Amino acid sequence: MRCLTPSLLRRFWGLLPQYLSVGPSQSPNLSPKQSSLRQSCSARPGLLTAPDVVSYWQKVFEKNGIPEARESSEYIVSFVLGAKTFQSLDSEKLRAPLTAVQQEQIQQLSCKRLERMPVQYVLGEWDFQNLTLKMRPPVFIPRPETEDLISLVVEEESRKCEVKNSAFSVAVPPPVILEIGCGSGAIALSLLCKIPQSRVLAVDKEEAAVDLTRENVHRLQLQGRIHVLHHNVSYGSAKHLLPWGPMDFIVSNPPYVFHEDMASLDAEILRYEDLDALDGGDDGMRVIKTILTLAPTLLKDSGSVFLEVDPRHPAMVEDWLTAQPDLFLTLRAVHKDFCGKPRFLHIQKQSR
Ligand SMILES: C[S@@+](CC[C@H](N)C(=O)[O-])C[C@H]1O[C@@H](n2cnc3c(N)ncnc32)[C@H](O)[C@@H]1O
Repeated sequence: MRCLTPSLLRRFWGLLPQYLSVGPSQSPNLSPKQSSLRQSCSARPGLLTAPDVVSYWQKVFEKNGIPEARESSEYIVSFVLGAKTFQSLDSEKLRAPLTAVQQEQIQQLSCKRLERMPVQYVLGEWDFQNLTLKMRPPVFIPRPETEDLISLVVEEESRKCEVKNSAFSVAVPPPVILEIGCGSGAIALSLLCKIPQSRVLAVDKEEAAVDLTRENVHRLQLQGRIHVLHHNVSYGSAKHLLPWGPMDFIVSNPPYVFHEDMASLDAEILRYEDLDALDGGDDGMRVIKTILTLAPTLLKDSGSVFLEVDPRHPAMVEDWLTAQPDLFLTLRAVHKDFCGKPRFLHIQKQSR
C-alpha cells in the first residue's frame, strides 16, 4: 500500500478544513466522535486498487457506525470509476491503480457519508425504474418499493385499453395523470416513459422539489408531455388543478408516516430529507384525506386513485371512505409491497 503524498494530503485538508488533522492542543472542543471522523478523513494511507479502497472505507464506515458500510463504499468507488455498481466493474478496472484525483474524489464523497448523508445525495443521482435522476437534499429520495406503484398504474391502464378496445374497436385516448407530491419527479417521469403519449400534471408544495423535478424532466427530454406546478394541495385546490384535467389517474406517494413515528426514523432521513415530505400528521392521513376529498371532482368517471400508504392505512382508509359516501369512491384493491406488507391502494370513482 502506498501513502498519500504530502501535497495530496494538503489538498485534502484544503478541501476539508473541518477534518484538518491538528494536535490535541489545537482542538480542545472535539468530541471523541468528531476526533474519530477527523482521523478517518485525513490521516489515512493511499490505496492502489478499487477493491482495496472499497475495503478501506467499509472498515472506516463500520468503525463509525455508518449503516450499509459495504454498499456505501462500493457505490462511492463505482461512481468515481464511472460505473453504477461495483459488480459491473470489469477485471481491468478492478486491477488498475486509482489515480490521485480518483482517490481524492472518493475521500470527499466518503466524508459526506461519514456525516450520515444518504448515499443518493452523496452521489447526486440515483436510479429509479431504469431512469437516472438527479438527487439533492432535502428533496425526498425515491424508495425502491415505490417502483411497484408505477407497475400498478401501468397494469390498470393496459386493462382499461383492452376492455375499451374490445368493446368499441376504437383507439383509446392516452391518459391524463395527476401526481400529487412529485418530489424528484420519479413517479411522474417513470409513468411518462411507461405509458406512451400519456400526459402528466406533477404538483409539489416545495420549491426545491419542483425545481428538481423540472431539472429531471429536462435531463430526460420529456418537457413536451408534463407540466410541473408549484402548489400546496388543499381542499380548495380543484380550481387550480382542473384546467389540466379531468384526470384518468391520480397517483401519489404522500407524506404518510404517523407523527409519533417521525422521531424514530434513521439519522440519514432526520438530518437530510425534508421531514414535511414524510410527516402525515397524527394518523398519517392528513394528505391522503385531502387527495381523496378532491378526487371525485378531478377524476373522470371510473377514474382511479393509486396511493402508497402505511400498512395500517388500508383498513383506516376503508373505514373513512365508508363514512364519506358522498365521495362516491370505492376501495378496489390493496396490494402488498415486496416485503409482503399492504402498501398500495387502488381506489376508483364510481360511474354515475
Ligand atoms: C413522500 S414524498 C414523495 C416524493 C416522490 N413522489 C417520490 O415518491 O419519490 C411526498 C412529497 O409530497 C409533497 N407534499 C406534501 N404535502 C403536499 C401538499 N399538500 N401539496 C403538494 N405537495 C405536497 C412533499 O413536498 C414531497 O415532495
